Amino acid sequence: MKNITKIQLGQNGPFVSRLGLGCMRMSSIWGGSTPNEVESIATIHEALDNGINFLNTGDFYGAGHNEMLISKAIKGRRNDAFISVKFGAIFHNGQPLGMDLRPISIKNFVNYSLTRLGIETIDLYQPSRMDNSVPVEDIIGTVADLVKEGKVRYIGVSEISAGQLRKANSIHPISALEIGYSLADRQVEDELLPTAKQLGIGVVAFANTAEGFLTGQMTAPLPADDYRIHFTRFQEENLSHNLKKVEVLKQLAENKGCTPTQLAIAWVKEQGDHIMPLVSMSRRSRLPENIAAMSIVFTKEEMNVLNTTFAKGAIWGGTYLQR
Ligand SMILES: NC(=O)c1ccc[n+]([C@@H]2O[C@H](COP(=O)([O-])OP(=O)(O)OC[C@H]3O[C@@H](n4cnc5c(N)ncnc54)[C@H](OP(=O)(O)O)[C@@H]3O)[C@@H](O)[C@H]2O)c1
Repeated sequence: MKNITKIQLGQNGPFVSRLGLGCMRMSSIWGGSTPNEVESIATIHEALDNGINFLNTGDFYGAGHNEMLISKAIKGRRNDAFISVKFGAIFHNGQPLGMDLRPISIKNFVNYSLTRLGIETIDLYQPSRMDNSVPVEDIIGTVADLVKEGKVRYIGVSEISAGQLRKANSIHPISALEIGYSLADRQVEDELLPTAKQLGIGVVAFANTAEGFLTGQMTAPLPADDYRIHFTRFQEENLSHNLKKVEVLKQLAENKGCTPTQLAIAWVKEQGDHIMPLVSMSRRSRLPENIAAMSIVFTKEEMNVLNTTFAKGAIWGGTYLQR
């Protein structure tokens, strides 16, 4: 590890980089080719060179394309990378159809992922959501069998309720909870994050910029072809209201000599030693800025400004995280 400190995921879990690399946006949701595969692979290489070993993917990202991309990037350097894979989400033509977490399906999915990734063992394997038609015991029990078989090293979960997290952890130790968390999305602070902390489960926090909203680069109205226009948070009076909050973030960033994105990532990191920011970066130019965010600290007053401006309910409307 070079520039990045480590974090332990779960009480007896792995030590990984404190900043994770989200690879989702390196693949098209429809599958097939990416906007810039060469740059994506170069970004993974540069992240690994900087000690960012946590690579996050899903078997449904680009209909398997994302795993094949990672496979190319880690050729010859498997030991530098910690690979986290989500599974179970079923898509058709880029549209979500639901979840399939039947034991026979999980056993099938894992072999395809291993083949696409070109590896023997997945470091962290996690259902991307729960499947209400399958008991949690069967889902986690099946992944636990994969651990015994040596196909999976650690078990994670993603976007689940506090009750489901407790249940899952009672069946097999859960190392990590992957969850959307940012200044703009704090509802998980009520029950889910305290439960993870109490159970000693690491938190892999994604969407730190809330779909780019906290980068300070969003302007109103969004162009008609911007996918984010479908989220109520980014529509009409909600957007004008919400952008005023971002002005406070921008001002604080200017005062501290950093960027709003860095503050958004640093705020997540400051919420607990067991919380890891997982950030999408599809180009090398993102790395220096986001790595530097991991060294930012806040005064009490600065934290107070952020927590007051972005108190729960301060941001109007939602994104897919509130579904
Ligand atoms: N478990 C789940 O349900 C779930 C759901 C969604 C995502 N995820 C995982 O979490 C990762 C992160 O989530 P996310 O992509 O939704 O959120 P994010 O990390 O907040 O990224 C949103 C956007 O911010 C951009 N960005 C990154 N650094 C920036 C910077 N310094 N300045 C300006 N823009 C910057 C990225 O652009 P570029 O990519 O173009 O560099 C990306 O388009 C994903 O890659 C995926 O692995 C998990």
